[in-house]
Amino acid sequence: MVKVYSVLMNKGGVGKTSLVTNLATLTALRKKRTLIIDTDGQGNCSLAFGLLPANFSRTVFDVAIGKLDFDDVIVNIDEERKKNGLDPINLPLDLAPANHEMNMLEFEVLTRLDKYPNPFRLWVKSLNAILNRYDVIFIDTPPSMGLVAGNVLSMSDHIIIPFIPESFGVSGFIRVVEALEEFEEAQGIRVNIAGVVGTMFDSRTTLHYEMMEDAKRYCRRNRIRLFETVIPRSIRYPAAFAYERKPATLVDRHHYLVVRYESLLMELMGDEQKEKQKPFWFF
Ligand SMILES: Nc1ncnc2c1ncn2[C@@H]1O[C@H](COP(=O)(O)OP(=O)(O)OP(=O)(O)O)[C@@H](O)[C@H]1O
Ligand SMILES: [Mg+2]
Repeated sequence: MVKVYSVLMNKGGVGKTSLVTNLATLTALRKKRTLIIDTDGQGNCSLAFGLLPANFSRTVFDVAIGKLDFDDVIVNIDEERKKNGLDPINLPLDLAPANHEMNMLEFEVLTRLDKYPNPFRLWVKSLNAILNRYDVIFIDTPPSMGLVAGNVLSMSDHIIIPFIPESFGVSGFIRVVEALEEFEEAQGIRVNIAGVVGTMFDSRTTLHYEMMEDAKRYCRRNRIRLFETVIPRSIRYPAAFAYERKPATLVDRHHYLVVRYESLLMELMGDEQKEKQKPFWFF
């Protein structure tokens, strides 16, 4: 049965796209048929694989406004890389791309609610038609809690909330958790938080340890899972992107950052083979 995970946080630069592209790469490396749905107008999921978002003439925007189906916009990342002269990655990994057109979605929908009577379910029907083709789907989101986030919630089985363990990072994720609860109540759309994950963790910064403790206390009190794994700050991710035009998980399987993504995936999917869990500061 396919599982749909989305990564959601209204702050920019917390590692949402990195989580989506690296976790999806890892599931594809495990031969799971994997789809990435990009819902962010920045189109960073395309860029992470060396593809230019503006080159896609069919995107998730067309699906949202009912012009096309997911079937019409999904591309195979390997094929697209080949078309662009990039080396193959040989993975069962597809992408439903987004580009700048997504920035018009809110205006299009909110000014024509007669045409869009269910504004938080724009993608659901079309997604249902392709679910059986995949084992796992990861959805990347823009750094805001608007119409797109609502739509993503209506498509997701599990939500992952990343945060940087700094003061505003912790209060930011608490606000998001509260907003999700309110959304669930108001819209009657089930919201299942898979967990909260610390990102850009810097082991030399005392503040990061303190903020992880704060996050741990909040999560324990509110019965929310805080993943044991934290994603360390590393030059590897920007370097992989800049030089190799693919996610870090495809560049160096043994790098400590990649090992952390593996460990997060194991926690997320409840892998039986899970290594004995290490404390969050271990890497
Ligand atoms: N573990 C890491 N260590 C250091 N830099 C990282 C790490 N992960 C991602 N980055 C870099 O940080 C920046 C933000 O990461 P990313 O794009 O994943 O965040 P985001 O939450 O998706 O941002 P946005 O909300 O703008 O889409 C990128 O330039 C990326 O290369
Ligand atoms: Mg992003």
